[in-house]
Amino acid sequence: MKSLWARKPIADVIPDDGKGMRRTLGTKDLIFLSIGAVIGAGIFSTLGTAAAGSLSPTGAVLRFGAGPALIVSFVLLGAVCALAALCYAELAAMIPQAGSAYAYSYASFGELIAWIIGWDLILEYAVGNVAVAISWSGYFSSLISPFVELPGWLTHGYFQAAASSNPAIHGLIESAPRIMGVPVLLNVPAFMIVMAITWLLVVGVRESTRVNAVMVMVKLAVLALFVIVGAQHIDTANYTPFAPNGFTGIHQGAAVVFFAYIGFDAISTAAEEVKDPQRTMPRGLLWGLGICTLIYVIVGAVATGLVPYQQLASSDPLTHAFNVAGLQRFGWIISAGAVVSMSAVLLVFQYGQPRIFYAMARDGLLPEGAAKLHKKYRTPHVTTIITGVLVACAALVADDVATYDLTNIGTLFAFVLVCLGVLVLRVTEPDRHRPFKVPFVWFVGLGGASACFFVMKGLPANAWKGFGIWLVIGIVLYAVYGYRHSRLRRGLPPRNFE
Ligand code: ALA
Repeated sequence: MKSLWARKPIADVIPDDGKGMRRTLGTKDLIFLSIGAVIGAGIFSTLGTAAAGSLSPTGAVLRFGAGPALIVSFVLLGAVCALAALCYAELAAMIPQAGSAYAYSYASFGELIAWIIGWDLILEYAVGNVAVAISWSGYFSSLISPFVELPGWLTHGYFQAAASSNPAIHGLIESAPRIMGVPVLLNVPAFMIVMAITWLLVVGVRESTRVNAVMVMVKLAVLALFVIVGAQHIDTANYTPFAPNGFTGIHQGAAVVFFAYIGFDAISTAAEEVKDPQRTMPRGLLWGLGICTLIYVIVGAVATGLVPYQQLASSDPLTHAFNVAGLQRFGWIISAGAVVSMSAVLLVFQYGQPRIFYAMARDGLLPEGAAKLHKKYRTPHVTTIITGVLVACAALVADDVATYDLTNIGTLFAFVLVCLGVLVLRVTEPDRHRPFKVPFVWFVGLGGASACFFVMKGLPANAWKGFGIWLVIGIVLYAVYGYRHSRLRRGLPPRNFE
């Protein structure tokens, strides 16, 4: 039993290749990287559900919306994420290794929790990408609609139609073609974009800081356009009532729009390449979060002022809001910007997932064959392709809102453990060199963990059920595979595949 809690010594956590990476990234680069990874489907899609809430196909309330008070949800989430970001900054600077929260947990809580977090991060990265791909498909369909109108059964997955309260989408189940009595509803654009991104990653394309900077400019430009044009058409009557469902709406809205903040934690994996991490890491993370929060508040205020908040219940709410307000021409530009922004997010997450698998395989917790590098491209092609095919197939049929919820609950759980992990390591390894130390660490660690847990509680019962099932599957897999093959428990050092 005791070996389940075996902690990986931090010296083993740091790659022992003697070469080290070049420290080239400054605060500005980190801010750009955060904006590149963070702004995507959250602001372009979950904003709608957060403001309007969601209904079942029979009209029952599944979640209350925040209404115009969505901006309060954004501000509160910014503060919660800032606490978690400080904790990420300390651990990332101290344990700069691929695998992010997985690596930190191995050093602080031991193997069992590390496995659980590695398994949990699949929700953040792979399931998160299923959600982004579905949102991408929604905007892509709007983008091409002036030229080609794809039939609804080729742009909506079965579960998305089954869960929708919109009669036009729910009705697709009746009108779709059938094969042996089974309705065929497949989100083909979502499938295609994931396969295209997977191919790019296998041949070794990764977003360079320069390409990222261009993507960030596109995102900022299109959101600026939304704000400048939208602000001129605001009807202040839409702001009353401000919080139609009180704090419950603000809380439940925050739990879904939390998706818009996911991604800043992925930046912490760049810790090894950051100049002067003591100052740069926390500054980059906090400035990035602060800027995104400000942008979200402004976009949220314009969106809820432009149309009555109930009208935002759509998978492409920003374009939809413009269309409702009679600004179709601009709606098309917003769709184009959304497609570019979300492609960038897909690339970051689809890049991250195989590397977490890689880190786990290096420790023997996943089959070592999976972590082989491609001879020519030097990429972890096996895990990249497995991840890509699974994500693409899930995106073909999944429901976007359910995948947002599952991603959020999984990511928030990782945040809780990272906040607590900082405290554990302060006690167990007080003398270890910390390039960055969280100020008021007990307040920040405990406050961050409790606040993230509170946000988790705003998610619907189905998300908790899905999360519970996911964890049980993970623990069974650990018992039948990871427990026997762990290199740490067998007294072996991590395997280097290169
Ligand atoms: N925060 C990222 C997005 O909104 C995951 O797409």
